[in-house]
Parts: sequence; structure tokens; C-alpha cells
Amino acid sequence: MITLRAQAKINWFLRVLGRRDDGYHEISSLMLRVSLADSLTFAPADRLSIQTDADIPEQQNIVYRAADLLRREAGITTGARIGLIKRIPSPAGLGGGSSDAASTLIGLSVLWGLSPSAEDLHHMASTLGSDVPYFLGPPAAVVLGRGEEVVPMGQGPALALVLAKPPIGVPTPWAYAQLKHYSAHAPSADDVARALASGNMARLLALMGNDLEPPVSATYPQVRALQQRMTALGASASAMSGSGPTVFGVFGSTREAEAAARELLGGDSTDLWAEAVTSGTDTTSA
Ligand code: C5P
Repeated sequence: MITLRAQAKINWFLRVLGRRDDGYHEISSLMLRVSLADSLTFAPADRLSIQTDADIPEQQNIVYRAADLLRREAGITTGARIGLIKRIPSPAGLGGGSSDAASTLIGLSVLWGLSPSAEDLHHMASTLGSDVPYFLGPPAAVVLGRGEEVVPMGQGPALALVLAKPPIGVPTPWAYAQLKHYSAHAPSADDVARALASGNMARLLALMGNDLEPPVSATYPQVRALQQRMTALGASASAMSGSGPTVFGVFGSTREAEAAARELLGGDSTDLWAEAVTSGTDTTSA
């Protein structure tokens, strides 16, 4: 049996540069993997099945769609018994489903003895979703195009973060459709590489920002309020991840992040999900 951790991501910055003819939006984003992860197991079986607590019909689960796509592309009829333990809230802007899909392509390639080329894997991943190719690569990357063009940036900065999500779901197409203005420019991959190499936190913090946050907060003011709460709790900065509603805050140490997460979960805000996580540490092994 094969076991994989499928890590969540945050968007350190997300700039939307315009609407494309295919209905998608041209973006530039620095994505960082965080220590929060779903767990996936893959075991041999005649037919394809998923054991999960996720409340979604089996064949609509992106894990099933990834497995079925790989099977069809490889021209095989064998199955697999896939176990999926969800810890990443979804939908949340944390890429949980996309990460599960990428791990499924990787895990089942091993289980079924396939050796898809990097191009084939990338093609299958981008068919499954704009964010999926990023999860095939290293923990930090700038993504361009609709998100499927991945410029690897290595391990990324070691950070102590808090993730917090109000109890709402923000559909991604809706969030993009709210945009009335686009960013005229975004940090280039070279800018990001230099900022990461400098190890200068002020330079990294200056890159933060999410173009989808103002329109999402206009309808869901809880998102902006949560960002303000993060800074009141000692975060040096905070931003929304992806199309939200999850907000992340950047803290000076793991201890401070854990204290802030406890504070967010305490009191009368029991409907809030919050967790202290790290980035830039290798947590890919099971
Ligand atoms: O690619 P994915 O299926 O994850 O995208 C979900 C939806 O999010 C798309 O149908 C589109 O409405 C929106 N989207 C977008 N521009 C992107 C990525 C996603 O408009 N770059």
C-alpha cells in the first residue's frame, strides 16, 4: 500500500491581470505549500473505489476523476482502493482538492507501475484544474497563465502561519466574476526569485496581496474582519488565500502562531476553523 500526504497551499500573492477569451483569468501568483495535509492511501484492487468521510458522490470526487483519467490515458482497466482522510477544509482557497488530485496521479502511477512523462502528468493535471500542476512541483512556485504555467521556486520561506476560515463557501467562478478592475502588473518570477533569495522578510511581505479579496470582502465582510483580527493578534501581515474565504496571518514564531490560533478558536467564535501551520519545511513524506 502507498501512503501520501497531500499538502494545502496558500497564495502569498494573487494578481489577476485580465479576463481571457476562454473565460478563465490571466493570473500571477506565488503559491507556498503549508504543513496542513490530507492523507491518501492507494491499494491494489480490481475496481476503482474511494473510502472517505468527504461528503461528495464518489464519481464527482476529483480523486476519482484523477484516477479515471490516468487509467484511460494509460489504457488500463485495473482499479485501486483509495483511502482519503480530509483535514484541509474545502472549498477554502487552500487547494485541497487540487492537491489530492496531484497526489492521486503520482500515487497511482507508482501503484500501477506507470512512468508517465512530466509532460503527460502536467497535461492530465491541467485537465483536472488550473491549480493541479503546481502540486506536482516543489513547495514554492510562481504560477502564470490560468495557473497551469509553473515556475519552480524551491522550498520557499520557513514561516509560522495561522490559517483561519469563516463558516462560508465562496465559489471560485463567482469570486472571479466580481472583479471590475485588473492589476496592471504583477511581480515577475525574477522579482520573486530575488526576494526569496535575499531572505529579507520585508521584501517578501511587500509582495503580499490578493486581487480577489476586495470583491469577496464586499459580500463577506467576515474575511476583511478576520484579516484585521490576525494583525490585532500579532501577525506582521495577513491576506486571503485563493478565492477565499481562508485568511492567513504571518507570525514571528510557531509559539506565537499557536497562541493566536487558540485565541481565534476561543470565546464566541466557535464556528471559525483555525490552525497554526508552517511553510518551507519538508513535510512531504507520509
Ligand atoms: O480550473 P478550475 O476548474 O480550478 O477553475 C474553476 C473556475 O475558476 C473556472 O471555471 C473559472 O470560472 C475560474 N478561474 C478563472 N481564472 C483562473 C482560474 C479559475 O476564472 N485563472
